[in-house]
Amino acid sequence: MERTLSIIKPDAVKNNYIGKIVARFEEEGLRIAGMRKVHLSKREAEGFYAVHAGRPFFGELTDFMSSGPCVVMILEGDNAILRNREIMGATNPAEAAEGTIRKLYAASIGENAVHGSDAPETAAVEISYFFRATEIN
Ligand code: CMP
Repeated sequence: MERTLSIIKPDAVKNNYIGKIVARFEEEGLRIAGMRKVHLSKREAEGFYAVHAGRPFFGELTDFMSSGPCVVMILEGDNAILRNREIMGATNPAEAAEGTIRKLYAASIGENAVHGSDAPETAAVEISYFFRATEIN
């Protein structure tokens, strides 16, 4: 059993895709072990994406992630990190496989509907960025 952090990004929230995206994770056998809607400040977005500080797209990324509310979730299941990444599809929606969330709901690499942790170590750090123990069940 594994846990991963998933974010429904401001573009997908604005486009009213929360329900479709959550339903997709549940249909794929992942369980929602934690969930909250948040509007990140620029500073909170910078903290979350600190690993990307210095990249040319960092300002654009953190502006976007603080531009409107997100839904942060913990997905739980066998192989949840990899499963989530398969369900999301490639970072760039133009390269995402048919049927993936980014292919279905995302417009560009910058506004790509969802985020998912990429490894067990980052999943642990990202989950603890948003959730305390009593909020995970
Ligand atoms: P995410 O999985 O949330 O992790 C980092 C994000 O940076 C990524 O999704 C993209 O939305 C964004 N990103 C990566 N590359 C670029 C880029 N070249 N231009 C703009 N945003 C990018």
